[in-house]
Amino acid sequence: TLADSEPTLPTAPASTGASPKDAVRISNPPCKDTITVLPQTSQLIALLTLIRDRKTQRGDFVFYSNRIIRLLVEEGLNHLPVVSHPIETPLGTPYTGVKFQGKICGVSIMRAGESMEQGLRDCCRSVRIGKILIQRDEETAQAKLFYDKLPEDIADRYVLLLDPMLATGGSAIKAVEVLLSRGVPEDHILFLNLIASPEGIEKFSEMFPKLRVVTAFVDEGLDDKSYITPGLGDFGDRYFGTA
Ligand code: PRP
Ligand code: URA
Repeated sequence: TLADSEPTLPTAPASTGASPKDAVRISNPPCKDTITVLPQTSQLIALLTLIRDRKTQRGDFVFYSNRIIRLLVEEGLNHLPVVSHPIETPLGTPYTGVKFQGKICGVSIMRAGESMEQGLRDCCRSVRIGKILIQRDEETAQAKLFYDKLPEDIADRYVLLLDPMLATGGSAIKAVEVLLSRGVPEDHILFLNLIASPEGIEKFSEMFPKLRVVTAFVDEGLDDKSYITPGLGDFGDRYFGTA
């Protein structure tokens, strides 16, 4: 059952004498102030460990990926502008809170980015979601744009751009170019991502210094096929069951 497969804290090998707390003290340096790496809690590292594991079956891969996606969306929403909003509580007491300012939409980079749409909908009911179909060439890893369908008024919206993997950066860069060409200001784009390579996120943030990125983890690097290492393999194949 799913209950049986609830995550356990990653534990260090007994021979090292290290505690579970030591095992999750993983270095994951944030780079720039436009880049937010989720707090490296033991829960997040345990969830990432589950989806990185080659032995994890599809049902669990989807379930635990969705949990991380929810954390990314919740953090992403913290980066949207708010304005002061005075209300009165049931006690008749005035309270000055905040409310979101402006309209948003999601844009998923197909296909893997579509896995993040439900997490966004769970937090933002009836949010509009545009699509951009970009595929990497399997030999060269070059990203190619095939199709896009975006809300007509996208230039007036904050855009949550969705893709779980940022490897060379080619796909995300192409997607942002489409958004900019439709008049979306760079600083109105927020890229939500599960795992980034250091070179991909560096290139991406140099090209778009005003664009904010929220990621769960910056990994070690890329292999000779431009896959993220240690990574988790092909996210789209594992999530949608096409491996
Ligand atoms: C994957 C992933 C990203 C892209 C990242 O998609 O979802 O979109 O590769 O690599 P990059 O940073 O080097 O461009 P892929 O093209 O494999 O298609 P998929 O979503 O159908 O799996
Ligand atoms: N796309 C993936 O799904 N995984 C990678 O490691 C790189 C690109």
